[in-house]
Amino acid sequence: MQLKKKHVGIGTVNISDTARKNVLKVLASNRLSPGKYTEKLEINLASLHDRKFAIFCNSGTSALHVALGVLKEKFNWRDGDEVIVPAVTFVATSNVVIHNNLKPVFVDVESDFYGINPDLIESRISTRTRAIMPVHLFGQSADMKPIMKMAKKYNLKVLEDSAEAMFVKYNGKPVGSSGDIACFSTYATHLITTGVGGFSMTNDPELAVMMKSYFNHGRDRIYLTIDDDDSVSPKKLFEIIPRRFSFVHIGHSFRLTEIEAALGLAQLDVWEKIISHRQANAQYLTKGLAKYSYYIQTPKIRKNSEHGFMLYPILIINQKIDREKLINFLEQNGVETRYLMPLINQPVYKKMFGDIENNYPVAKAINRNGFIVGCHQDLTESDLDYVIDKFSKFFKKYA
Ligand SMILES: Cc1ncc(COP(=O)(O)O)c(C=O)c1O
Repeated sequence: MQLKKKHVGIGTVNISDTARKNVLKVLASNRLSPGKYTEKLEINLASLHDRKFAIFCNSGTSALHVALGVLKEKFNWRDGDEVIVPAVTFVATSNVVIHNNLKPVFVDVESDFYGINPDLIESRISTRTRAIMPVHLFGQSADMKPIMKMAKKYNLKVLEDSAEAMFVKYNGKPVGSSGDIACFSTYATHLITTGVGGFSMTNDPELAVMMKSYFNHGRDRIYLTIDDDDSVSPKKLFEIIPRRFSFVHIGHSFRLTEIEAALGLAQLDVWEKIISHRQANAQYLTKGLAKYSYYIQTPKIRKNSEHGFMLYPILIINQKIDREKLINFLEQNGVETRYLMPLINQPVYKKMFGDIENNYPVAKAINRNGFIVGCHQDLTESDLDYVIDKFSKFFKKYA
């Protein structure tokens, strides 16, 4: 009999009884298009993040794409205007800038928390800068206080990429509650997952209506869901009917179904447990790996901030350690890894922007020496002991 190989993954999917029941209720209702589950999920998530409006859509990337597009439209930006993005992030952050015919301007990141470095933003602001896109990477907020101050000084909009962070606080405020719009992802491996999915959140009713319309082919705001003509007066119905098939923007088909919303709602019942379990796992890993602080930097938590630990980032800080050897050793032993969000050295970025890594020393070090392992809520202490043991074996053998 072949023994099943140990696998310690980056993310987890655990469909609870509540999730199953919710999905069965949706199926029994014979209604898949957005309805009461979607509405409840949007209202609950908005309130957890101190926002007036949340709109569910088919991915974090779609949310960011539309969010930036509506800011561009509302504030009359021109093609080629600039948006400041961190030099270390998932490609989607800056891809959406390019898709919107805007120009990403990279800023190096902090060497300890990996967020955009607020001290370096001002020198990258030009007469064409229109927005800053801080990213709350790995589950922890970027340093929003100085970022918002800078945005105010130069009259810039702030679009928060909160695809990797939800629920946690920064200076007492929920992550994703500072900028003009914040976008979240519920893709597999994220803090809550609906398979695919995303949210855009704002307090501005005009931006909220525009985003919802863009997610729905650019439809007239009067008819954005099939419930919009239920229980209305005959006078209102008379107004709705001609506008039902009216399109006021060049929109997208970025909608989801009630099934994803039903899955998401089930996880909202247990988000506190998810976060606290991830935090405990991360703390356990950090304690277990502390004896290797000569070789690696384990994640640091910002003062007055919480970390949701969507992922557990590690940076090799000793030249003697070869990252490829270390991650190959971990992978051979079933410990899944990823690089630590390299962006500016991606083949397509090099083709567009040239070999610019030397201008971003922290990003360059991260691109060469950073990687990620999982610390999700379904990992047990024995899984984490296993991971720590693999590090010990590697350092004994190679260091
Ligand atoms: C920082 C960041 N931004 C954007 C995204 C895009 O989200 P999605 O995969 O839902 O499109 C991700 C996805 O992992 C991400 O990590």
